[in-house]
Amino acid sequence: MRNIIIDCDPGHDDIIAILVALAHKDELNILGFTTVAGNQTLDKVTNNLLKVETYLGIDIPVYKGYNSPIVKELDVQPLAHGESGLDGPVLPEAINSAKDMHAIEFMKKTLLEAKDKVTFVCIGPLTNMGLFLKTYPELREKIDQIVIMGGGIYNGNVLIKAEFNIYHDPEAAKIVFDSGVKVVMAGLEVCYSGSILLTETERAKDGGKASKLFYDLMKFYQGYAIRNGWDRTAIFDATPVIYLLYPELFKSEEKEVYIETVGEYCRGMTVVDTRNRATEMKNPKTVLISTDREKFVEVIFDALNKLDAQY
Ligand code: BDR
Ligand code: CA
Repeated sequence: MRNIIIDCDPGHDDIIAILVALAHKDELNILGFTTVAGNQTLDKVTNNLLKVETYLGIDIPVYKGYNSPIVKELDVQPLAHGESGLDGPVLPEAINSAKDMHAIEFMKKTLLEAKDKVTFVCIGPLTNMGLFLKTYPELREKIDQIVIMGGGIYNGNVLIKAEFNIYHDPEAAKIVFDSGVKVVMAGLEVCYSGSILLTETERAKDGGKASKLFYDLMKFYQGYAIRNGWDRTAIFDATPVIYLLYPELFKSEEKEVYIETVGEYCRGMTVVDTRNRATEMKNPKTVLISTDREKFVEVIFDALNKLDAQY
């Protein structure tokens, strides 16, 4: 059993990642959620998560983190996630509120009390994680690994070379990548390799509660792919969760990765050293390269079926 904290900005794919984690209670023990501004404002993404908890009838503690990046202005993503940050499904008003403790104080308390090391699953901008490591560097040794959806080996999405989560707070990302803690990077390439075909979404159409949520999320989220003429879409944030559950589905390589924090075109880029040289790496990251698309998609549908039987 692995103890995890999910740091997120829900976000359609954030919620799908959370559904996959919830379906694997024997493997992943979610100690809490921390939220961060990204896809939408901090209040909106936190409320989205609390509404989903109410819809599913679950009560995992939620802690709000930072409401803007360290240096940059907040730059939300209505094109991909809508004005609410979770457009599409009709959800009940949230019964619970976020806890009265800042996200990084929750991280601190959890690590101080933990007998075993804790894994962080970071699927939003890295503001919380970066400022946590900056504020409490002595707690690094209590972290097993930080598995991140962010960056790309070759390409970006919001910018030519920058992926949204890293672009949104490059200074925070730099702190995390330079921290010396084990980092696993699920960048754009591995996420695209696990893309779901738009037609596959229909499998969830007549399912139970979790499937219905997934279906309604996807019907909005796929709009972005449809507008671009694609026949599939990546469910980016599910990748780190599925990696933790089924690492055998992934190809990965150890690579040095640097975060570009300056630059006219490349600010927010993850600069991956893809050169093939026999020099010793100082601080390599595990960079996920690709996955088995069909098995990846099957993990998602299996998770939905399990949750449908439960909720
Ligand atoms: C990342 O950006 C967000 O829009 C998604 O939730 C995901 O975390 C993909 O670039
Ligand atoms: Ca996200």
